[in-house]
Amino acid sequence: MNQGTRGRFISLEGGEGVGKSTQARALAAALRADGRDVVETREPGGSAGAEAVRALLLEGSADRWGPRAEALLFAAARADHVDKTIRPALDAGAWVICDRFLDSSIAYQGGADGLGSDSIRALHAIGSEGLLPDRTLLLTLPEEVAMAREAARDAGRPDRFGKRDAAYHRRVTASFRNLADAEPERWRVIEARGSADTVTQALLAALEDLL
Ligand code: TMP
Repeated sequence: MNQGTRGRFISLEGGEGVGKSTQARALAAALRADGRDVVETREPGGSAGAEAVRALLLEGSADRWGPRAEALLFAAARADHVDKTIRPALDAGAWVICDRFLDSSIAYQGGADGLGSDSIRALHAIGSEGLLPDRTLLLTLPEEVAMAREAARDAGRPDRFGKRDAAYHRRVTASFRNLADAEPERWRVIEARGSADTVTQALLAALEDLL
């Protein structure tokens, strides 16, 4: 049992179709089985207010929001999520497993949409007092594998981001890689091929120093 150990904040990141949500669930289950108190959450969303903003962000036409309005909405959702869910859980000593966090805003709005990482970090400083995960796990897959998985999952009903073209998603992937390269202490890159179990074991190994 690990009761009494300080909670940790772990985020999972990656493009569409890499299996983040399945892995977030599996990782949380593995940590719970080891006696830890775990809060599983996701972005956009993770608190009542942020889930309401999620619907605004993901539904409707691809051009419903411009990149600036979108970045502000993600930052506002994140501020509520941090305030209502993440900080209270960490203060209570729980582990927080979060499916996407700040780095998705840096990769999508900052990188692929061209707003730049500095503006996204500035919004995060205001909204969430700059809170960063203790570890960020980047799941990667070859583009064609991820696209096939995503198409199967969406069954022809992609959200506003899934409707964007391959060049957009390539810019997202490149931004994530750059972020991981720039901050190797916080990031670990995990090849998400192979069975779900194998990937979960790789994720746990990438947390070894925090356990
Ligand atoms: P997903 O949770 O199914 O991956 O869908 C969320 C979508 O929102 C995904 O396409 C990535 C996008 N997104 C951003 O563009 N910026 C963000 O800050 C977050 C959290 C998600």
